[in-house]
This record gives sequence, C-alpha cells and structure tokens, in this order.
Amino acid sequence: MADGTASLSLGGNAHDFPVRSGSVGPDVIDIRKLYAQTGAFTYDPGFTSTAACESAITYIDGDAGILLHRGYPIDQLAEKSTFMEVSYLLLNGELPTGEELAKFTYTISRHTMLHEQLATFLRGFRRDAHPMAVMCGIVGALSAFYHDSTDITDPKQRMIASHRLIAKMPTIAAMAYKYTIGQPFMYPQNNLTYTGNFLRMTFGVPAEPYEVNPVVEQAMRTIFILHADHEQNASTSTVRLAGSSGANPFACIAAGIACLWGPAHGGANEAALNMLREIGRPERIPEFIARAKDKDDPFRLMGFGHRVYKNYDPRAKVMQKIAEQVLKELGVNDPVFDVARELEHIALNDEYFIEKKLYPNVDFYSGVVLSAIGFPTSMFTALFALARTVGWVAQWNEMISDPEQKIGRPRQLYTGANQRDYVAVGER
Ligand code: ACO
Repeated sequence: MADGTASLSLGGNAHDFPVRSGSVGPDVIDIRKLYAQTGAFTYDPGFTSTAACESAITYIDGDAGILLHRGYPIDQLAEKSTFMEVSYLLLNGELPTGEELAKFTYTISRHTMLHEQLATFLRGFRRDAHPMAVMCGIVGALSAFYHDSTDITDPKQRMIASHRLIAKMPTIAAMAYKYTIGQPFMYPQNNLTYTGNFLRMTFGVPAEPYEVNPVVEQAMRTIFILHADHEQNASTSTVRLAGSSGANPFACIAAGIACLWGPAHGGANEAALNMLREIGRPERIPEFIARAKDKDDPFRLMGFGHRVYKNYDPRAKVMQKIAEQVLKELGVNDPVFDVARELEHIALNDEYFIEKKLYPNVDFYSGVVLSAIGFPTSMFTALFALARTVGWVAQWNEMISDPEQKIGRPRQLYTGANQRDYVAVGER
C-alpha cells in the first residue's frame, strides 16, 4: 500500500517513489524502479538503510530497546513461555492452543534422531574440529540424507524440513561436543523437554542415569528463547539470500551457520568470555576500556554495541538475571562475573560509550552462564546456531511464500579498470 511519495532530484530531473508504511517502525521508500527510472543505483554497504524484504515475524526498536516476536515482547516470552511454544509462534504467526502445542511438541520429538549414517560421517572430522565446523558440515549434509523434504515449492515438504532442522539441531550439537571429548553419542530421549533432552545428550553418559537440573533447564530454555530470532541480522539475511536462488533448506541453514560463526555476530559470546577471562580482575578494566577507545587499537569490548540497539539490548537484561540464578544454583564463584558487572558499570558511565550509545548485548553475559553450566567456549556459538535455527526456518518459509520474492542480487559501485585490451605475457 502506498502511503506517500518521496521525491528525488537527479541530474535536474525529479523522480517520485512510493513510500510504504509497516505496522510499526520507520517507513520505507520503495526504490525498486529507481534504476529503470533514473539509471542510478543506491550505495549502502552493510545494508544500514536498506530493507531487503517484507516480514511479519520479528520487530526491533533499537532506540527503545524493544524486541517483539510476532508482537510479543521478548521479556514476556522469556519469562512465561517455552521454547516449543516460541518456535510454534515464530513458524505459524500465533501462539498455539494447548492441543496445537502438544501436537507440535510431539512432531518435533519424533524427528530428533539422525540417520545413523550421519554418525559415521561425523566421525570423519578431526577430534579437535570446532563444533561450528562440524555443525556447518553436518547440516549441509542433511540434504543428502533427507531427499523427501527438499522440494521447496511444496509447503508440506518445507514444513517437514523445518521440523527436522529444529528437532535435529540439538542432537547434532550434542554429538559435535561428545565427539570432541571422546564420549559415546547419546541418543535423544523424547520424554524429556527439548532443553532437558539436549542437556542429557550433552552431559549425560550411557553408564548412568542423567538428572536434569530444573534451574539449568530453565536457564537453557530461556537462552534458547532469547536467541530464537532477531529480524534481518547477518546470518538470517544469509539464509534468505541462499534460499532466494531456490537452494534446499539444509544448504540454506548451513550457510546461516557459516555466517553466524563470525566474531562480530554469533562468535561474540565466545569472544566476550575470552575477553573477560583475559581482563581477569576488576583492577585491569580501565586498561581495557582505554584500549577500546583507542582509534589505533583494533580491540573492541566484545559483547558491547549492536548495529540496531542503541539502547540496552532487552535480551542482555534477562541474561544478567539468568547468570545470577545459575551461578547461585551451581555454587559457582566465577570472578569473571564480577569483572563483567564491573565492566558494564564502568562502560555505561564512560563518555565514549554513552556518546556512541554502546550497551551490553545478549552475548555479554551468555558466556558466563554457559561456562557455569559446563559448556566449553567453543560450544557457545553452536548453541546460538541451535536456538536460531527456528528463526532461520521461519524467515526462510516466509520468504519462499512471498509472491514478491526474487533472487537476491545486489548491485555495486564499480571502481576497477575500464575496458582495456589483453597484452600477451611476453609483452608486459
Ligand atoms: N567497543 C569499542 N568501540 C565500539 C564497539 C565496541 N564493542 N562497538 C562499536 N564501537 C565504536 C566503533 O569503533 C565506532 O566508532 P567511530 O564512530 O568512532 O568509528 C562506533 O562505535 C560505531 O561502530 P560500528 O562498528 O560502525 O557499528 P556497527 O553497527 O557496524 O557494529 C557491532 C556493530 C559489529 C556489533 C560492533 O558494535 C562490535 O563489533 N561489537 C563487538 C562484537 C559484538 O559484541 N558482537 C555481537 C553483536 S550481537 C549478536 O550478533 C547477537
């Protein structure tokens, strides 16, 4: 629906473009006809001002520090909902009835096992492989094992692939971990919750029963909810871009995992904890703050700053509470938590961070929690990938169902050589 017009004056000519309004948030100028009308492109590296799609899944108001999934605030979902319910919500648009939730939970639990051949495939990796390398490889390989859900034009197959991905991700992540430490793979146990089953597959052993600690289970559930989706972030946009060519869902999610691995994105929780450990004690904080502010030093405070949030990341607030609960429950007295709290306090009162609107993001405290639960830092991003899978598949499904969807094909500002004639090697 066109709600207005934006005028552009270029080369002495005026051009009008429709302005569209969403349900909430900034208007967008529809420039799809810009090139046809003016012969010019826009230039926007990093898509800082470009809406690449229409979406009804997640909304972020970065200035107000608000994150909504299908309209529901993240803090309400984190406090009151379950990961299965949030997954249903993201995929289907509405909260499920009791019956719908039971059916969905049952369906996901019936897809938790992996083709047994995949265990052999996984054993081909080196034992010291990073879990994200394993996740990327195994998820990409799923398309070689589940041919019956790769026809993206069939909504039913798309939903089966989505369920498979959500269900199998904990199994794959837990196997990647078990393989590193040389313990046997644990098969899923479907009478446990999604989170309880994952904890058992990760920390349980076949030799004895595993009891799920309810505080840890609750913390993991909340962490999964906090990471479930986050609008058009780098990895989600990667999934959409890969999917725009018609690639199968498993290949698209593998692409998302690859993008998430980077330290500016999903790898930040690992980097944040490493940084807190390096700082070690509160007395050293000023030294690191000074480095973060030094233009000649590439060092950044990991877990601080966000492309969209110019206020407190609402997920960071929930995460800080969880950190307190988990450390108390497990009796962990990790000085890293004191360093984190003190660093946050100092940074939030420092002119540099205030002026640039740099606040803790979700990754600032998540490493402290995951480490207390017993995960090695290398698993942190794998857990993020596990939780984000539902967001990826929801966004991918939305894109495929969108009649306006086109293959993603950005333009460029070319600054290379003009056309010139080839010179034979002996004449150069
Ligand atoms: N520490 C110190 N300075 C910072 C930080 C930081 N963590 N983040 C941004 N700045 C500064 C930049 O140097 C820049 O300063 P300048 O204007 O003087 O050049 C200014 O703040 C703006 O930063 P940009 O990098 O332009 O902002 P952008 O939106 O591109 O980057 C990003 C966002 C990548 C998240 C950045 O804040 C960062 O690198 N943070 C650390 C990594 C991190 O925690 N990533 C997790 C993101 S959350 C997630 O993926 C779930």
